[in-house]
Amino acid sequence: MRRTASGVVMLLAGAALHAETGAEAWLRYAALDDGTARAYRAIVPAVVTALSDEPEVASARDELIRGVRGMLGRTLRTERRVPAESAIVLGTVTGFAKTAPQFALPGNLQADAYTLKTVMVNGVRYTVIMSSNARGVLYGTFAFLRKIALGEPVTDLDEGQAPYAPVRWVNQWDNLDGSIERGYGGRSIFWENGHARADLSRVGDYGRLLASLGINGCSISNVNADPRLLGDDFVPQIARIAAAFRPWGVRVAVSVDFGSPKTLGGLDTFDPLDPRVAGWWKSKVDELYRAVPDLGGFVLKADSEGRVGPSTYSRTHADAANVVARALQPHGGILFYRGFVYDHHMDWRNPKNDRARAAYDNFKPLDGRFDDNVVIQIKNGPIDFQVREPASPLFAALEKTNQAAELQITQEYMGQSRFLVFLPPMWKETLDFDMGSGSVKALAAGKTFHRPLGGFVGVANIGLDENWTANHLSQANLYGFGRLAWDPDLSSQRIAEEWTRLTFGADRKMIDTITGLLLKSWRTYEDYTGPLGLQGLTDIVGNHYGVSVEASEGNGWGQWHRADEKGAGMDRTVATGTGFIGQYPPAAARMFESLETCPDDLVLFMHHVPYTYKLHNGKTVIQTIYDLHYRGEEAAENYVREWKSLTGRIDERRYGEVLAQLEYQAGQAEVWRDAVNNWFFRESGIPDEQGRVGHHPGRIEAEAMTLEGYAATPVTPWEAASGGTAVSCPQSRCSASFRYDGAPGWYTLRVQYFDQNNGAAQYRLRVTNQVVDEWTAADHVPSSKIDGSTSTRREISGIALRPGDEIQIEGVPDGGESAALDYVEIQPNDPNSE
Ligand code: GCU
Repeated sequence: MRRTASGVVMLLAGAALHAETGAEAWLRYAALDDGTARAYRAIVPAVVTALSDEPEVASARDELIRGVRGMLGRTLRTERRVPAESAIVLGTVTGFAKTAPQFALPGNLQADAYTLKTVMVNGVRYTVIMSSNARGVLYGTFAFLRKIALGEPVTDLDEGQAPYAPVRWVNQWDNLDGSIERGYGGRSIFWENGHARADLSRVGDYGRLLASLGINGCSISNVNADPRLLGDDFVPQIARIAAAFRPWGVRVAVSVDFGSPKTLGGLDTFDPLDPRVAGWWKSKVDELYRAVPDLGGFVLKADSEGRVGPSTYSRTHADAANVVARALQPHGGILFYRGFVYDHHMDWRNPKNDRARAAYDNFKPLDGRFDDNVVIQIKNGPIDFQVREPASPLFAALEKTNQAAELQITQEYMGQSRFLVFLPPMWKETLDFDMGSGSVKALAAGKTFHRPLGGFVGVANIGLDENWTANHLSQANLYGFGRLAWDPDLSSQRIAEEWTRLTFGADRKMIDTITGLLLKSWRTYEDYTGPLGLQGLTDIVGNHYGVSVEASEGNGWGQWHRADEKGAGMDRTVATGTGFIGQYPPAAARMFESLETCPDDLVLFMHHVPYTYKLHNGKTVIQTIYDLHYRGEEAAENYVREWKSLTGRIDERRYGEVLAQLEYQAGQAEVWRDAVNNWFFRESGIPDEQGRVGHHPGRIEAEAMTLEGYAATPVTPWEAASGGTAVSCPQSRCSASFRYDGAPGWYTLRVQYFDQNNGAAQYRLRVTNQVVDEWTAADHVPSSKIDGSTSTRREISGIALRPGDEIQIEGVPDGGESAALDYVEIQPNDPNSE
């Protein structure tokens, strides 16, 4: 099926006219270009018949009508029976056997699997979408529509797809007050002011997005659980949410607090071995199932980060899990027990202490002692969703216990929906990692040890924002998670291309450009933050966003990188370190233990080495840190150029919003680059071979300017500001000025300022008394301080400068925001934008 040249023109013209909000995500069903639509219209029948009327099958039928109308401009007729004319027929295996035996379809499909098949009966061509269950009919329908949207053939279908794993869930970390822990896409779609929202329409919309990916469960409350959720008054509220999800085949679960029998139930104990406690869980669960018969189950975070757990009574995690699981079992409910258990008060002075060991140390000895409806939910890495971690060794250690891999879709340590970081390539590295007994994906799915349950859980990134995820490109992570949960063998390239095409359209250059951006974005982010296994280097004890190299050190949280004046990295070897590496099966352990074979990407996660240690390419650790930060920052600058090359190919609204995001990211990448490099330079005393670190041609520090009202202010951490110092304005208006003494020409001025979230300061830039730019610092980055999170760049290009020109920045503080400035950089205009 080819698009005609005129089709392309029409598509572009259409796109430019139609501003899109992003609310439809990848289910836009945008009109196909004329040629393609004509070709599909010739094949797609005019009738849809649903053989049964379960809610999911009704959703499938309606979705088909919606999709075909959107893409092909045709409204399908619905019929209750198989007509004598060509039709799309939707049904379960039982439905086909009972009402349409003439199709003679084979009947052995696993749960949620589907068949798409073109069948000829009495010379009439039918398109069959069949599954073992109603939910699978929905999955087959979405797959059929996706084929059309992607321009794939649907003429002679004969395709069966079965999900890789039974558990394909998302977790929402939503609080009852409507806030979301580590959520960046707005407020909760479920909760507000301590109650379920009156309007749950977004829950249905979300269910539709999830179903389109094959996700079959969603826990609707924070793992840091609010005990009130199990109160009687919440039962009908949970039931309302479950009802909104039900037509999309998404089962609801809730996170529970292990202390509930005591705090909520009025018992004097929550000891899992006390029969009264078991009784309490049973009656609570029975009550819930009376209201929500298809409840998925519970999620439980116990003995972790201050949550109560079985340790209060010297009981095991198996005791804790089983007492709850036994209440769920008769109803078919699952207990997801978090493997994220560690001591956050560890003594950092003890070099043998290691948080990475915790999950394995806690759960390995209990293997085989969990009931069959318990799933141990294991984070992809042994620490906590850092930019690069090895696969958790716990995946290989549980042979007689169900497990699921927990992946974080919300970008907590990954730029929090402000940065483009496409996560599937990172997830795939974990899922494909070979543990000897099997890959992580096979272990998590329960394939390796033939477990009855297993799969993938994603900590989701959506909220009430119109486009769900705050920035358009972060939608790709939810899409990618869902596609991988269904089929972890899909390539990142395939996922990125699919998503781009469904979300933005069929233009080839656009698909290639956006796919390219997505695929390199994880590496770019790692390069300009914490490469070589240093982990994120974000503010570990604060917002997990801005740069703060030492935040992870000197405290009990255990995210240590142990960088000092001589070297960096955690010695996790068996020979001399914490012994963490010994938790891996032999081949993987051997690979990590030896510096010869340990991958450079993880060298500082596994080993402590001097800065002069040479990596596999012969370059020292310190020079690699410098170089990668420059490489990452350059790549982020290039994102802006690449995106600009798509002008006119994307609707203006989304084009503009993504451009603003990428420009912001480029500025932040420079902050990160300089902060991390300066920190390591100061610590190691080893200069950058290329002379870049600490030398910034064209940069004028604010504190070196002529200041009126502005006062020099030391910044914490020092590396977050150039020269460790900013200027802030303690009065109603201040100015900072300097004289330009370079060559005459066209220049770009970059003003680095601090956009705190506690005010909306105003800035005005003058060149020889002429105002050339003014702006308001009204962003809401997660900090009210002058620090790495708030440091922001304003770029003003095309300014004519002559020697002797006075450049002046005027700042007007607002609220707690002090119109602070870091520096101005004068760069020759970008020749690419000339
Ligand atoms: C991270 C995150 C917490 C979260 C925890 C968890 O530590 O910062 O907000 O509660 O993970 O997964 O339980």
